[in-house]
Amino acid sequence: ANDPRIPAIQSRIRVVPDFPKPDITTLLLDPKAYRDTIDLFVERYKTKNISVVAGVEARGFMFGPPIALAIGAKFVPLRKPKKLPGKVFRQEYDLEYGSDCLEMHVGAVEAGERALVVDDLVATGGTLCAAINLLERAGAEVAECACVIEVPNLKGKERLNGKPLYALMESH
Ligand code: PRP
Repeated sequence: ANDPRIPAIQSRIRVVPDFPKPDITTLLLDPKAYRDTIDLFVERYKTKNISVVAGVEARGFMFGPPIALAIGAKFVPLRKPKKLPGKVFRQEYDLEYGSDCLEMHVGAVEAGERALVVDDLVATGGTLCAAINLLERAGAEVAECACVIEVPNLKGKERLNGKPLYALMESH
C-alpha cells in the first residue's frame, strides 16, 4: 500500500545492529503512529466478516487486541508452551536453531469461524505457519495473515499454505 501514514510508521521502527529483527517497541512510544498502524488494519478488515483475531505471543499481543475490539471480533492468544491453563492444541515449528511451539485453547475458536492471524513481523514464516495450523485444526478458515513488517528475502509468504499475507512494509 502507498498510504501516506506508512512512511511515518516505518520511521518509528528501529533497526538495532546485531539484533536479528526490527524493533517495534519504538513504534509503541508514538501514539499517533501506533494508532495509524491499528487503523490501517481496521480499515482493511472491518468489512471482511472476521469473527476471531488470533495474536502470536509476544508481539502479536501488541497489535491484535485493538484490531479485534475495533472490528467486533474476539481475540484469541496463541501462546508459547505451558502458559495456557486449559486443554490446548499444540503446534511445533522450526527455528533457525532448534524448534519452538505455539498453543491455543481448545474451544476458543469454533469450527466455521473466519480468522485473522496477527503478528508484528514475518521472517521465515515458521511462526505464522504454526498459527495457521492451530486455527485450521480448530476448524476455522484463515482469511489472511497481517503483519506490520515482512522480511521479503526470507520468503515467509511461501510457507503460509497459500493463505494471503498483508504487510504494511518490507524490511531487510
Ligand atoms: C518474532 C516475531 C514473530 C517471529 C517471526 O518472535 O515477533 O513472531 O519472530 O519469525 P519467523 O517468521 O521466522 O517465524 P520471536 O520468536 O522472537 O518471539 P517473541 O515475540 O516472543 O519475542
